[in-house]
Amino acid sequence: MSLSLIGKSISESATLTLNAKAAMLREKGEPVIHLGGGEPKTKAPFDAIMAVSGLVNTGEVRYTPASGTLLLKKSIIRYTEEFYKRKVSPAEVIASSGAKQSIMVALQAILDPQDELLFPAPYWVSYPEMAKLCGAKPVPVVPKSSAFHPTIQEIESKTTAKTKAIIINSPNNPSGAMYPEEFIADIVAFSEKRGIYLIMDDIYHRLVFDGKKAANCYDYAKDLSDNSRLIVVNGVSKQYAMTGFRIGWAVANKELVKAMSDIQSHQSSGPSVITQVAAAAAINSDQTSVESLRLNLENNLNIMIRELNSFPDIKFSKPDGTFYCFVDFSHYNKDSRALSNYLLDKVRVVTVPGYEFGVDGYLRLSTCGTVKDITEGVQRIKWALDPNSTNETIIGNRKIVKDKI
Ligand SMILES: Cc1ncc(COP(=O)(O)O)c(C=O)c1O
Repeated sequence: MSLSLIGKSISESATLTLNAKAAMLREKGEPVIHLGGGEPKTKAPFDAIMAVSGLVNTGEVRYTPASGTLLLKKSIIRYTEEFYKRKVSPAEVIASSGAKQSIMVALQAILDPQDELLFPAPYWVSYPEMAKLCGAKPVPVVPKSSAFHPTIQEIESKTTAKTKAIIINSPNNPSGAMYPEEFIADIVAFSEKRGIYLIMDDIYHRLVFDGKKAANCYDYAKDLSDNSRLIVVNGVSKQYAMTGFRIGWAVANKELVKAMSDIQSHQSSGPSVITQVAAAAAINSDQTSVESLRLNLENNLNIMIRELNSFPDIKFSKPDGTFYCFVDFSHYNKDSRALSNYLLDKVRVVTVPGYEFGVDGYLRLSTCGTVKDITEGVQRIKWALDPNSTNETIIGNRKIVKDKI
């Protein structure tokens, strides 16, 4: 078949492929434990649900402006004031069908073919593919630090005359690492000095633990004029457990927001008015759901760490936030895709290979599931890999015999 260069170059989403395989096994009655998930299992805020039913009951569900309704923009403006201490106007805000689309239209508005998009590894699986969708070149920067904290020198060493934008995702998917405040200060100053766009993907900024607080990039920006190249991205998917609602947003300078909105207007038009209403209600709600999700994730993480600590020959840094733990399993198998497949086939546990995030030898384990899933999932992995574990175990109602690996 004749496909475009872009059509041929984009990989399928590894996480979605794994989900499909796990769903197929579950349908066959297999006792699959999903430690690969990237979405909280708690319910959307009650106010969001009420707002949806209120609107749907009117029977008048219409198009909205391409960059989102004024109601949602006003909520995002309030959010930006509360969490970033920055006052912006509606013209500096775009709401999209997920943070993913906000990032995509930002990149389409910024990148020309052959431009370079820089981001630290491990990185969210979509960044390289998004760069490729613009005909641009993804440039991952793999930090030397075992905690995956990049340094400004590492970023600088990969910056060229073609570097048009940098994406920073902290707290980070998949490592859970929150980059030090000084690094955020440095990267803001560096991007301003070099005239490079800086996209802060802050989607996990409220899901942080141990009393820590995510850095606010605006605290370090010298240029907050209409020429600012700072783009701050956020959304309702993770913090409000509203992944299926598909609402995210970006705050940026007016000219850029206008270009992003024009692109979005021809791509998908404005996001669904139903979910815009829900997102506004979630942002304006009493926020108890965010705190209870955060506490639940912190508890789950501590349980996962307790289980992992009894596992010989693995290494990991305690995540500062998110709902992921990124664990070095290279002692057992340096090929994370082979290891992830093996664990699904042998003990029916879904994990995401580090390879997909630009760092092989690691597996991403999610803390979104139940305490039982986390405990049993890690125990099954341990049984399959630890040479000192018993020769046989029971999974579901089947006896499994250990392989020699
Ligand atoms: C780092 C990161 N950015 C953005 C997104 C996209 O979120 P949304 O559901 O709002 O499109 C995700 C979702 O997994 C993510 O992990």
